[in-house]
Amino acid sequence: MINYSIILIGYMGVGKSYIGRKLSKEFMIDFFDLDSYIESYEKKSISDIFFERGEIYFRNIENKYLESILDKNIKYVISTGGGTPCYSNNIELIKNNKQLKSFYLKSSSNQLTNRLFYEKEKRPLISNINSKKDLNSFISKHLFERNVFYNQADYIIDIENKNTSEVISEIKEKLT
Ligand code: S3P
Repeated sequence: MINYSIILIGYMGVGKSYIGRKLSKEFMIDFFDLDSYIESYEKKSISDIFFERGEIYFRNIENKYLESILDKNIKYVISTGGGTPCYSNNIELIKNNKQLKSFYLKSSSNQLTNRLFYEKEKRPLISNINSKKDLNSFISKHLFERNVFYNQADYIIDIENKNTSEVISEIKEKLT
């Protein structure tokens, strides 16, 4: 039994959803993937929401749905979208919630580029970047800007060169 709920933050492609789901099973608590939660309530894919309504609309509803999950009176694991802590008052909502421990899953721009190059279609912010070199430049700059927010997490877990079970044990160690 753990005493806290967990929130995973970090750039696209670090494995927040996969690790979050595994952690929730391990601790036998509820799992919420913020992007999937938004898609199921809005009945639209994230890409469709971006293309039909624009990013500002997406950021507004992302804030609203994050708040509604945080308000639940149960223990849970939340996997956020890569931009979640960087918009609205989301990082404050996360930091002010005393029931919650936040983890930044950290990876380098080179590793992220390698992972994301083959997984960019469903990600509207990078889907139109065609070469690996351009993707790497985009990610390096973007990650630098976002690190200000990511680095406010309670714990920073370097996931580079680690397998899933090593990442999970490291997170468990911090919580027990
Ligand atoms: C975004 C990341 C995506 C999704 C949306 C915007 C971002 O989530 O929320 O496409 O701003 O980094 P993943 O981190 O799960 O790809």
